[in-house]
Amino acid sequence: MPRKHIFITRPIADEGVKLLQKKYDVDIYEHDRVIPRAELLRRLKANRYDAVLTILTERVDEAFFKAAGPQLKVVANFAVGFNNIDLQAAKRRGVIITNTPGDEINESVAEHTIALLFALAHRIVEGDDYIRMGKFKGWNPSLLIGTDFIGKTVGVVGAGRIGMRVMQRIYDGFHIKLLYTNQTGNKEAEKRFGAQRVGLKELLQRSDFVTLHVPLVPGTHHLIDTAELKLMKKTAYLVNTSRGPVVSEKALVAALKAKRIAGAGLDVFENEPVIPEILKRLPNVVTTPHIASATIEARHAMSRVAAQNIIAVLSGKKALNSIV
Ligand code: GLV
Repeated sequence: MPRKHIFITRPIADEGVKLLQKKYDVDIYEHDRVIPRAELLRRLKANRYDAVLTILTERVDEAFFKAAGPQLKVVANFAVGFNNIDLQAAKRRGVIITNTPGDEINESVAEHTIALLFALAHRIVEGDDYIRMGKFKGWNPSLLIGTDFIGKTVGVVGAGRIGMRVMQRIYDGFHIKLLYTNQTGNKEAEKRFGAQRVGLKELLQRSDFVTLHVPLVPGTHHLIDTAELKLMKKTAYLVNTSRGPVVSEKALVAALKAKRIAGAGLDVFENEPVIPEILKRLPNVVTTPHIASATIEARHAMSRVAAQNIIAVLSGKKALNSIV
C-alpha cells in the first residue's frame, strides 16, 4: 500500500515532524514564512494529501477543501484557537479538524499573561525605553510610579484550560482576589482559588486587572468594546492573549488615549500583522507579537499533539482533540 502523504504548511518544531516521517511521506513548505494562498491551493491540488498540518495564519475554508480533494481526512491545526477554520465546511466535507491544547501551552500562555500583567503594573517597558533613550539621570522618588499587584482584584474572562492555569498561578503566587466569567460555573476554580463567578459587567467594574481567555467565535467578537471599556476602573489594565478581534481595537485606542483605563498588555491584534501606529506609540501599552505560546516546551508539545492527531485519524482511531 502506498504511504500516506502529509503536508505541513510551515516549518515547526521537529518532535511531531519526526513522528509523522516514521509513518508517512511528509512535505514541508520550505520557507519560514506564510505560504502564499495560491501556492497553498496549488500544492493541495497537485499532491492529494491525506492530512494537512496547518498554522493559524492559513484560511481553511471551502476553497481549501475543494483544492485538497475528497481523500483529505484530517486538518491538524497547530494552535489551540481554530478561528481560521470554517468548521461548517469541514463538517460538510467530512474532514476531521483538530487543535493542540495541552499542559505546556496552558503554562506558556499563563506565564506570558502574567508577564504582561507585571510589565504593566511595574512599567517595565517604559523603564527599559527610558534607559535606552538615555533619560536616566539617577534615582528619583517620583519616577515611573507603578502599582503593586498584591491586594488587587483580577478578573479572568473565560475559565477554560488557559484561564484556569492563569488563576492557579496568580492564586498560588499572590493569593489574589479572583473574579471570573464562564458560560458554565467552574466549581474547581471556586474551590481551589476562591474565585467568584460574576457577570462580565460586574467583572469589568470590580477588577484592577482584566485578562481575556475566550476563543474567538461569533459571540466573542468585540466582546470588549466601548461600552465594556467604560465599565472598567480608570486605574485598571486590560490584558489580551486570546485573539485580537475579541477586543475592538478602535475602542481600546480611544480608551487608552483618553486615559479611561490605565493601560493594556496585548499579544494579539485585530488585523495581524497590521497594528495601528497609534497603538505602538502609546506609553501605557505593552505589546508582544502573538508569542504567548512561543516557548520551546509549548512548541514541541504542539508539534507532537498535532502529529498524534493525524496519526490517530489516519489509523482509523479517534483524534485526541477533535473540534469537528
Ligand atoms: C495560539 O494563538 C494558539 O491558538 O495556539
